[in-house]
Amino acid sequence: MRTIFLCVALSSLVFVAAGQTVEITVDASRPGPTISRHIFGQFAEHLGTGVYEGIWVGPESKIPNTRGIRSDVVNALKALKVPNVRWPGGCFADEYHWRNGIGPKRGITLNPTWGGVIEPNTFGTHEFMDFLDQIGSEAFLSVNVGSGTVQEAADWMEYITSEQQTDLAKQRAANGHPAPYKIPFLGIGNESWDCGGNMSPDFYLSQLKMYSRFVRNFNPAQKGDQGMMRIAVGPGGTEQRFVDWTETVMKGWKARQWSWDMEGLSLHNYTVINWEKKHSATDFGEKEYAEILKKTLEINALLDTHIGIMDKYDPEKKIALVVDEWGAWYSPTPGTNPGFLVQQNSQRDALLAALNLNIFARRADRIRTANIAQMVNVLQAMILTDKEKIVLTPTYHVFKMYIPFQDATFVPVTFNAGTYSNGSITLPRVDAIAAKGMDGKLWLSITNLDANKAVEIDLTLGVNARSVSGQTLTSPKVDSINTFDSPKTVEPKPISAQAQGGKLILNVPPRSVTVFAVE
Ligand code: AHR
Repeated sequence: MRTIFLCVALSSLVFVAAGQTVEITVDASRPGPTISRHIFGQFAEHLGTGVYEGIWVGPESKIPNTRGIRSDVVNALKALKVPNVRWPGGCFADEYHWRNGIGPKRGITLNPTWGGVIEPNTFGTHEFMDFLDQIGSEAFLSVNVGSGTVQEAADWMEYITSEQQTDLAKQRAANGHPAPYKIPFLGIGNESWDCGGNMSPDFYLSQLKMYSRFVRNFNPAQKGDQGMMRIAVGPGGTEQRFVDWTETVMKGWKARQWSWDMEGLSLHNYTVINWEKKHSATDFGEKEYAEILKKTLEINALLDTHIGIMDKYDPEKKIALVVDEWGAWYSPTPGTNPGFLVQQNSQRDALLAALNLNIFARRADRIRTANIAQMVNVLQAMILTDKEKIVLTPTYHVFKMYIPFQDATFVPVTFNAGTYSNGSITLPRVDAIAAKGMDGKLWLSITNLDANKAVEIDLTLGVNARSVSGQTLTSPKVDSINTFDSPKTVEPKPISAQAQGGKLILNVPPRSVTVFAVE
């Protein structure tokens, strides 16, 4: 990022439209909780070309790869500092049998939920761990509760984590990895109220107790603080059935005996207005832009509902809320297999991502892990690939710009957001968060939701700023996208700012996300 020393630039001040000023005050004297880096987690399901093609091309491929994992995707993800990757699903996890995915001879099975295609199992446990190693990330494994058994999941964990020379540990060594792997996150089922077996909350709670008790992590390096987070299936909406679900699981946990425990509760939220007739990812105007951003902000109510229940049973906030599937879900790209959930990604999604990350950061005391759905080629992806081609999406750029917020300390900001309206929809014009980064700098993110107007930000920092450096991500239109032929339509650009009367004046363009450090 380029550093720009502060100076008064008259031309920039003239550019700012009158009446569009938002005052933001940063209160560094009241630091909040740590914004866990794990809220920037990703999700890679065996779904469409999310894994096969998107990550795994096989060692014989002409596409440059390391042990079958494509190098262009690895390089792009490495630059994102992805903290954890959830795998192998999603709904797929409840149909996954891990023994098909190890050793020299892989099982050929089906993927009935996602297009009914062949699942070659060439990307299995060792390939997943190799992928994590290549991108510098950590494992979030989802075990099969729906169609598997407690014993199958327990064996998988013994295979992966046992240092002691059991038969399963020896089998792992024979398959190329003598040392035990680490599994920091374990998802116990997925959407067990729906694709994961349509269970009642009580039935799931019984399953949870057994998986929690018997599916053990044996890696000696994962004791105490380094212990694995066991994540129970949680809600997927505000409806009564989801309220009952959270109540049942949290109440069950509160009344637990020594023999079982959990450290996280999952929550899923997709930004969709009509599941039967989803919005288009590309063919939209300002009305749909405003509609989707309004819809995504409804996650606030969803989080308040379920965090409220968690607070009742767990006021000490021992249990993390894990938003392990979130993002925009649009109608599939025309001409693609509808079961593959392929969709483009526009500047609207960049704003959607920033708004959600800000919402998670504000609840950092409870939300300690989150995973956008999904990583490559599926739903709100970071990366799209087509054979040897690759393109980075606007959402990718937001995740990259937010890296300084990983493990940063939340700093409160106060502002009057103003309003931006389109037809009957009214949204806050501006959103903002601040944090003290691991680098010691004060970082701010400012999102301007207004599709048409720039906003002048009048920033009171409480300290004298010497320099500011950062980037802004905007686009020619609300529906601008990056394509294989035109991959740089939406790209971050360096910002400029001015010091004025002890304050910082910043002009943020319409429909933009701006992240900068103040020193
Ligand atoms: O991310 C796609 C699917 O959405 C997941 O498999 C499932 O958990 C959710 O319904």
